[in-house]
Amino acid sequence: MKLILLGAPGAGKGTQAEIISEKLHIPTISTGNILREAIKNGTETGLKAKSFMDAGKLVPDDVIIGIVSERVAQPDCANGFILDGVPRTIPQAEALEAAGIHFDRVISIEIEDAVIEARMTGRRVCGSCGASYHITAHPPKVEGICDACGKELVIRKDDAPETVKNRLKVFHAETEPLKNFYEKLGVLKLVEGNQPIESATKDILAALGV
Ligand code: AP5
Repeated sequence: MKLILLGAPGAGKGTQAEIISEKLHIPTISTGNILREAIKNGTETGLKAKSFMDAGKLVPDDVIIGIVSERVAQPDCANGFILDGVPRTIPQAEALEAAGIHFDRVISIEIEDAVIEARMTGRRVCGSCGASYHITAHPPKVEGICDACGKELVIRKDDAPETVKNRLKVFHAETEPLKNFYEKLGVLKLVEGNQPIESATKDILAALGV
């Protein structure tokens, strides 16, 4: 199963990718997490990406295409994978198709901007493993501590309200046209994102036919 989770920032892609990944036993590839890790480690890719991410802009396509091509070639992707947050532009989608990477399903998690702006203020992420929580919708067992690795939870720099507004603008201009791209390929399914996490998971699994 090769799957893409599409959706606005904060739609729940990362949250759902984690759950579906466990259920289907396939890895999740999150370009956002890979880039944040690169920034933390001070790599060349991280240095290139940082100013774009802090401003809520997209990282250049060539950087992203390089990251994804390298990652999907790893042995753990042999039986499939979930792309979370990529592709995000038509050139990224075209590059995947040109590389012979075709998708069984593309799930677009649908949600209004106003809901997202409110939701982002409650997000907390693990500064170490990248796991994502919400102070009310998906709280950790111990406040401020990651369930998965026990490290401290932090607020993402790009979750500042002004940056979220900019990310939403970029999403509508650059990423939303991908729905049309994948609809033409006959693999697009829409799922409501403004519902409890478990209900959205059920709808995604139904859309996948599993
Ligand atoms: P990235 O990390 O991919 O961020 P994003 O797409 O903006 O998505 P988010 O991680 O903000 O949201 P999400 O949909 O995963 O939601 P989550 O599950 O966390 O990218 C960051 C930056 O990296 C980009 O701005 C760009 O600069 C760069 N980048 C990355 N990929 C790129 C690419 N391909 N091309 C170019 N640049 C790229 O949920 C959000 C919150 O809501 C959490 O607190 C969660 O607990 C909560 N929540 C989730 N579901 C629900 C629900 N159903 N009800 C209530 N709360 C919920």
